[in-house]
Amino acid sequence: MTRPTAGTPLSRVDGRLKVTGQAAYAAEHDAHGTVRGVVHGVIVTSTVGRGRITGIDTRDAVAQRGVLKVISHLNAPKLPYRPFRGVPDPARGERLRVFQDDRVRFFGQPVAVVVAESLEIAQHAASLVKVAYDGERPATDLSSPAGEANQPENYQRGNVDQALERAHTRLAQTYRLNREHHNPMEPHATIARWEGDRLTVWDKTQIVLNTRGDLATVFGIPEGAVRVISPFVGGAFGSALRAWPHVAIAALAAREVRRPVKVVLTRKQLYTGTGFRPVTEYKLTLGADERGRLTAAVHDIRAETSAYEDYREALMVQGQMVYATPNVRQTYRSIPLDVNTPTWMRGPGAATAAYAIECAMDELAYDLGMDPIELRLRNEPDRDPGTGVPFSTRRLRECFRVGSRTVGWDDRDPRPRSARDGNWLIGTGVAVATYHTQRAPAQALARLDADGTAIVQCATSDMGPGTYTSMTQVAADALGLPVPKVRFQLGDSTMPPSPPHGGSMTMASVGSAVQDTCDKLRRQAIRLAVADPGSPLHGASADDVVVQNGRLHLRDDPERGETYRELLARNNRPHLEARGGYTPGQEVERFSTHAYGAVFAQVAVDERLGLVRIRRVFGVYDAGRIINPKLAESQAIGGMVGGIGMALLEHTVTDPRDGRIVNANMADYLVPVNADVPDVNAIYLNGDDRTADPIGVKGLGEVVIVGVAPAIANAVFHATGRRIRDLPITIEALL
Ligand code: MOS
Repeated sequence: MTRPTAGTPLSRVDGRLKVTGQAAYAAEHDAHGTVRGVVHGVIVTSTVGRGRITGIDTRDAVAQRGVLKVISHLNAPKLPYRPFRGVPDPARGERLRVFQDDRVRFFGQPVAVVVAESLEIAQHAASLVKVAYDGERPATDLSSPAGEANQPENYQRGNVDQALERAHTRLAQTYRLNREHHNPMEPHATIARWEGDRLTVWDKTQIVLNTRGDLATVFGIPEGAVRVISPFVGGAFGSALRAWPHVAIAALAAREVRRPVKVVLTRKQLYTGTGFRPVTEYKLTLGADERGRLTAAVHDIRAETSAYEDYREALMVQGQMVYATPNVRQTYRSIPLDVNTPTWMRGPGAATAAYAIECAMDELAYDLGMDPIELRLRNEPDRDPGTGVPFSTRRLRECFRVGSRTVGWDDRDPRPRSARDGNWLIGTGVAVATYHTQRAPAQALARLDADGTAIVQCATSDMGPGTYTSMTQVAADALGLPVPKVRFQLGDSTMPPSPPHGGSMTMASVGSAVQDTCDKLRRQAIRLAVADPGSPLHGASADDVVVQNGRLHLRDDPERGETYRELLARNNRPHLEARGGYTPGQEVERFSTHAYGAVFAQVAVDERLGLVRIRRVFGVYDAGRIINPKLAESQAIGGMVGGIGMALLEHTVTDPRDGRIVNANMADYLVPVNADVPDVNAIYLNGDDRTADPIGVKGLGEVVIVGVAPAIANAVFHATGRRIRDLPITIEALL
């Protein structure tokens, strides 16, 4: 048998394209010659955070040679906003209602676009557009909403008040997460071209089909009239899960000037032109008995949204399932503010909730005088405590066992300030990570060509996890072809549909669809062979035929067989083609499926300066089957680095007077650099979860960020005795 490629650390199949600059990112399709005659749009953004535009003077701008048009609400055509797929969805239109009225809803809102022959002319002309406002102070703080409260989300089981009253130990604390931005390397960008009533868009997106739907909605045209192309994405972390106003602006401008238009957001514009992880206040009350078993939990959560859309994320999942707690109450309020709409950012909801829950568990462990891991193990449920259904797999105990052995947890003196290294106080903390396994319907197309190579397609995306590579591996194994003979293609709305490339659902959903499709194609070839009198396999049972290295043969008699090429040539078939897919079934309700991790952090805190240095972060994950260990490790390290940023550095700072983002650049918005991440490692438990999905994975892109920030916060407490309940943990807070 040739060895399957799934499970092996194959290097990225698109790596060479990327390092040689041949991979075309959204803003590069003109330079790569894909689209010609492109002109440039530069967006002018509002300098007040709420109010009305009272005048726009474009005379100097339009007087510049090379300026084609300046578009604002004063001259933009009214956009029809036809309901998406027949379903009215106010959220879809609202976000993309560009230049439709004089209202300013947030600081940095697009108020005009200047279109010119060159980027430089457009930039200069944009600086000459004078906008007058009647501005007011925006509401940018959770304590003073911009409008009426949104309907809260509620959950309840048991009798919380009684249980809290009877609890042996009670703890009530509020944890706060500040706003964070994704800051992908690649800026968001769109090139739009109209040919009559048909629109083609090259976009940075994690889901071409959503962008297609959004544009069809905004322009009131059929989805079939829109094509969205996005072969490469230079990082996104959720920021490209929705189309943002610049996408509609590029398309609107292209229609107005009758030329293809490119709009690239500046780094500064990314802070208001795309979403962000919302400010969240998480008040958590826990009750426990004398043996450390949780008896009650009250989760009171408030998170920001915009005044024009009600964004929510999965903040309530962990509070229901992570620990056996008979009595639970949750309330989640989204607070409308004069900000642009937040959006999913890596581990959305889960990373925030885990920060509160896992810090509170650490506090409770100290209150009870119990080891923090022991406390968690005592609350390990044997069924999902929220739904009562069994877990498909839950190997958290094993994660703890492997992790604590690796980091030497049992040798740790639990007392705060008990370890030091010169001026540095040393602390170790632990936290649990969980992320629910999401699955959604996906389809794929596979074609085997006469030369013995295959092409497999799905309209998914690869923002960095290595989807091109992992799907190639799945396809190669199912087709019985070596990796170089298989090409996986994605990022085009004309391809078979996929769910969003987010929520850690791509491998489960698209991977299962690719496997099904390629299984069908292989079986089709086998059927052709056994029915073909000219084939050495004629008359054999299809079940006895396997394909290896592009050659079909009898399992028990490898000599008897022929290659795909021979089979197709003799049958005069230019290719064989199959369509397949994956639809989640009842297992989604019948089992509780999550990825898990135990995350350990060691920090050093300078006693006099309050500096926090990461010494080590180590995660042990139960994520089901690992299709490519090299990519999985890369995902883990990336997620953990994101968690370090969340814990210690990342904070989008808003000026309350006008809603301006004061650190809208990569010099002032801090993210970890290499020196901040000396020793970051992860391992995955061997195994798979065939209940979760046909391919056996549980998703790993999100879970790897989830427990990192609380593990670090707990380590800071262990080092210093200081409990910081506000992220990021800054020097100021520790002084
Ligand atoms: Mo992500 S927030 O799963 O793109």
